[in-house]
Amino acid sequence: MLLSSLIASPKVILRLCISTVLCIFASVLSKVRFWTRGVCKGTATPPAPDLNSPEDRGATTPTSVNYHFTRKCNYKCGFCFHTAKTSFVLPLEEAKRGLKLLKEAGMEKINFSGGEPFLHEKGEFLGKLVEFCKVDLQLPSVSIVSNGSMIKERWFQKYGDYLDILAISCDSFDEETNQLIGRTQGRKSHIENLYKIRNWCQQYKVAFKINSVINTFNLHEDMTEQINQLNPVRWKVFQCLLIDGENAGEAALREAERFVIGDEQFKDFLDRHGGVPCLVPESNEKMRNSYLILDEYMRFLDCREGRKDPSRSVLDVGVKEAILFSGFDEKMFLKRGGKYVWSKADMRLEW
Ligand SMILES: C[S@@+](CC[C@H](N)C(=O)[O-])C[C@H]1O[C@@H](n2cnc3c(N)ncnc32)[C@H](O)[C@@H]1O
Ligand code: SF4
Repeated sequence: MLLSSLIASPKVILRLCISTVLCIFASVLSKVRFWTRGVCKGTATPPAPDLNSPEDRGATTPTSVNYHFTRKCNYKCGFCFHTAKTSFVLPLEEAKRGLKLLKEAGMEKINFSGGEPFLHEKGEFLGKLVEFCKVDLQLPSVSIVSNGSMIKERWFQKYGDYLDILAISCDSFDEETNQLIGRTQGRKSHIENLYKIRNWCQQYKVAFKINSVINTFNLHEDMTEQINQLNPVRWKVFQCLLIDGENAGEAALREAERFVIGDEQFKDFLDRHGGVPCLVPESNEKMRNSYLILDEYMRFLDCREGRKDPSRSVLDVGVKEAILFSGFDEKMFLKRGGKYVWSKADMRLEW
């Protein structure tokens, strides 16, 4: 009887339909409200930040910057990951303008690299930048990394006062191995030169550092005796790194695959030199994204994809904008000991 009256009443059917539709609508609405509230006000778990997206990364301070102002070099190291793809060098005044912008953005340490930084204008361009950074910008730390082959005593007399640290790269204490690597120009002795520069550093009060790249040609060497004798403030030991477009892949000027060593081989080398107190190891993992690298156009180079992707130039868009595309991993920078006593005024140079 009840059923028949319900079936018979179109009004009741209509009401039933309306209440069902309202019910579905309310349920959808509550879900939408939950999502929007969660995302906008943070009451639900927010989506993980995309660390690859510049918007999601906090502002980076360019505390320590590596400026590769030239790509040209007189050596032919087979593993080199910063090759002569252009011969461009900024005019001096533009380079100074960029350095000033970096200082204003928080730079404390500048390292000049290349290519070979002493090649351009026989080291005068480099000397002027070193002097500018110390005297005009008053940077706590000014350093250079060089193969050492072009440095003259005259340079130390003129610019030594303004330089905190000079790093010379030396991968072997065996001349033949240096020849095989390409860490040489003609038959000149790379090692004799290293000792000569070490003495000039002592004489002109510049902290002396050594960089070595561990690769298939030197991985079995024991350098303990020579390093202890040279007594650098730091001995940076790098695991040979591949960078697409530089020393690997089709567009590259070097083929460094035959130089690459595994993590275990790198560890063996480090264990053999465990007694060298100034040793600072840098595996591929530590090295890849822990440097702020500026190229010859003052563009930051992002190595996260295994190649060097350039930002826009600091000179065109300023530091804040350019640095968003640097791929810099500040945590790894700190983990690898990137911040250390880097001003010679704070070091006890016991020579
Ligand atoms: C590109 S070089 C430029 C400065 C200078 N020409 C020199 O060799 O010291 C800067 C530093 O990177 C190191 N280096 C070059 N290629 C490398 C690679 N494939 N893996 C790790 N370090 C490398 C060099 O030995 C040097 O210490
Ligand atoms: S690593 Fe060798 S080839 Fe590369 S820039 Fe330095 S000296 Fe030149």
